Amino acid sequence: MIGIFDSGVGGLSVLREIRAQMPSARLIYFGDTAHVPYGPRSMAQICEFSEAITRFLLAKGAKVIVIACNTASAAALKYLRERFPDVPFVGMEPAVKPAAEITQSKTIGVLATQVTFQGELFASVVSRFADTQNVRVLTQVCAGLVQQIEAGELDTPKTEAMLRGWVEPILAQGADALVLGCTHYPFITPLLQKICAERAVRIIDPAPAVARQVARVAAALADGHQARAKGYTTYYATGDMDDFRRALRRLLGINRRAQSVHWQGEQIVIEDSDSG
Ligand code: DGL
Repeated sequence: MIGIFDSGVGGLSVLREIRAQMPSARLIYFGDTAHVPYGPRSMAQICEFSEAITRFLLAKGAKVIVIACNTASAAALKYLRERFPDVPFVGMEPAVKPAAEITQSKTIGVLATQVTFQGELFASVVSRFADTQNVRVLTQVCAGLVQQIEAGELDTPKTEAMLRGWVEPILAQGADALVLGCTHYPFITPLLQKICAERAVRIIDPAPAVARQVARVAAALADGHQARAKGYTTYYATGDMDDFRRALRRLLGINRRAQSVHWQGEQIVIEDSDSG
């Protein structure tokens, strides 16, 4: 069983890749929709939430934990690995490496949250993959974009105006690759493509590469695959159940309900058995 978590619905962009690559895997998805967005929160608080969610997923039988959130990975991946030394974690890191490999203009843009840029993980990928190739990295915090995506505003005029305000200056500086450094952002790729219009700009979503890594880790544990069985996913969310159901329909095209869970202090408690 593979446990996947995010601050909200963004990790569904990673889940769909894992499902595509591992059709028979048993997955549990946890969206902490009561606390989204994580981006403006402190690293310490994100570590606390991530630890409690990890405990919950392990108690449900997860053998691999996928932190399908760049912000939580930046804040808590190292912490979680120290706290749970026997658990394999797969985290997200901004895809600076593939962007630096394909850029012709030697300029790339990275869109992410504040916390993602603050973490050591980001500094490390920039120094290893961009600085070494003389690639200029333009960073942009997209404050409020996660909330637009959570609300289903994937292509409204307001979302488009916000995105144009961030992306056009990056394009004007010559970037020809844009890294989606937040797992919510793949859901607005069509809007980004519209903004990039005629320009030859590559938009890079790291989810397929992360899913391949999850498959490797799960195969090494002989976990996740049930020979000839059909995979299934159980969803948990801490916020509004109807909102989550609408998001599953809109983002993944499936009609499912999540199980409702809520925070009691630092613990996560199952509210009812409203499972789908
Ligand atoms: N999906 C999260 C990420 O990848 C969203 C961050 C947030 O909740 O602010 O960074």
